[in-house]
Amino acid sequence: MNFKSIPLMVKAFVAAVAVLVVVAASTAVAQQPEFVAGMLSTVPSGYALASLADLQSADFLNQYNSVGINYVQSFGSGFICCVVSVQEGYLSIGSSASYSSYITPFLNGVETCTSNTQPSGTTFGVPPFASGPYEGMWITNLTTKEQAGFLATGVTPTGAFSNCGLSGVATTAIFRVIPPKYIVQIVGTGAPVPSGFAVATLADLQSVDFQTSYNTAGGVVMAASPNNQNSYCCILSVSEGWVGYNDEVDSISPLGLYSEAFNAVECGYNQARQLVFIGTPFGGPNGGFVFRTFNASLVSSFGTFTRQNTSDCQSSPTTQTLLKSVV
Ligand SMILES: *[C@@H]1O[C@H](CO)[C@@H](O)[C@H](O)[C@H]1NC(C)=O
Ligand SMILES: *[C@@H]1O[C@H](CO)[C@@H](O)[C@H](O)[C@H]1NC(C)=O
Ligand SMILES: *[C@@H]1O[C@H](CO)[C@@H](O)[C@H](O)[C@H]1NC(C)=O
Repeated sequence: MNFKSIPLMVKAFVAAVAVLVVVAASTAVAQQPEFVAGMLSTVPSGYALASLADLQSADFLNQYNSVGINYVQSFGSGFICCVVSVQEGYLSIGSSASYSSYITPFLNGVETCTSNTQPSGTTFGVPPFASGPYEGMWITNLTTKEQAGFLATGVTPTGAFSNCGLSGVATTAIFRVIPPKYIVQIVGTGAPVPSGFAVATLADLQSVDFQTSYNTAGGVVMAASPNNQNSYCCILSVSEGWVGYNDEVDSISPLGLYSEAFNAVECGYNQARQLVFIGTPFGGPNGGFVFRTFNASLVSSFGTFTRQNTSDCQSSPTTQTLLKSVV
């Protein structure tokens, strides 16, 4: 087998990385933010109340620092409990329930829990009127150290937060999208398979179940990857190796991911979660093909190739990988 097409891929890959970082913030998040905010009493469709562990995840950190948290419902007109709720209780930061400060939504350094508003791009902070070790602190950029300091407490906030715990008072909360059955994410050395998922096989990618999921959602979810990767390969891989289109002839067209607007090749590094289309962005005899829908005849042309077959991506410790939910 002759892999003449593959050297082209490297150039395309390098160019794609430059493009994808630029487009990330503007196109990605409108499609399907992983985390949104709203009122505890009204769970947004497709979402579930986030847990403390969700707020301590790399995905949350990535979204917080790239676009923040958008409200999908507005604050009501009456009294509001502004302390952010998660599954386990009220969100707080500090070393213990008795030495911590309750967290509320902030926008540009100011508490943003205001009746009849629906803020976008919010962050977390501790109001100046709140008592506790961190009063007046705004978390501009979230770090893993601060995430580790998050705790959830069942103790109802009092004092300046006296609306909390009163019956009928709307309470604000963070929601996480219900995990899809298939996602793509950079996986490899230093980038483990996220919990609840396993690396998919070629047969999974070719299954009717995947076709239904892809066609219903309008693509597949590309999850954000932690920003700790120096080198990564954007060719879609499954457990058997990288996936190519039409690899029964003497060259192949490696699969990769296109943005929903088809104007960029996406890889998930330093990006927010988004829906992407699978296609052949890296050259080859059938290069530049975007698969808007999946069907049996398309997937019958898929095959895998391995590191032995090409020198490209060989030194990369991580690869964009199709994952399947196992929960
Ligand atoms: C916060 O993050 C932004 C975007 O990544 C960066 O430009 C800025 O320098 C960071 N600020 C601090 C204080 O680290
Ligand atoms: C199968 O999917 C491919 C890619 O989306 C499309 O080009 C082709 O027309 C589809 N074929 C059928 C028979 O629907
Ligand atoms: C790829 O390399 C492996 C290992 O050398 C070999 O067994 C396989 O036949 C090659 N695949 C193709 C499609 O050439």
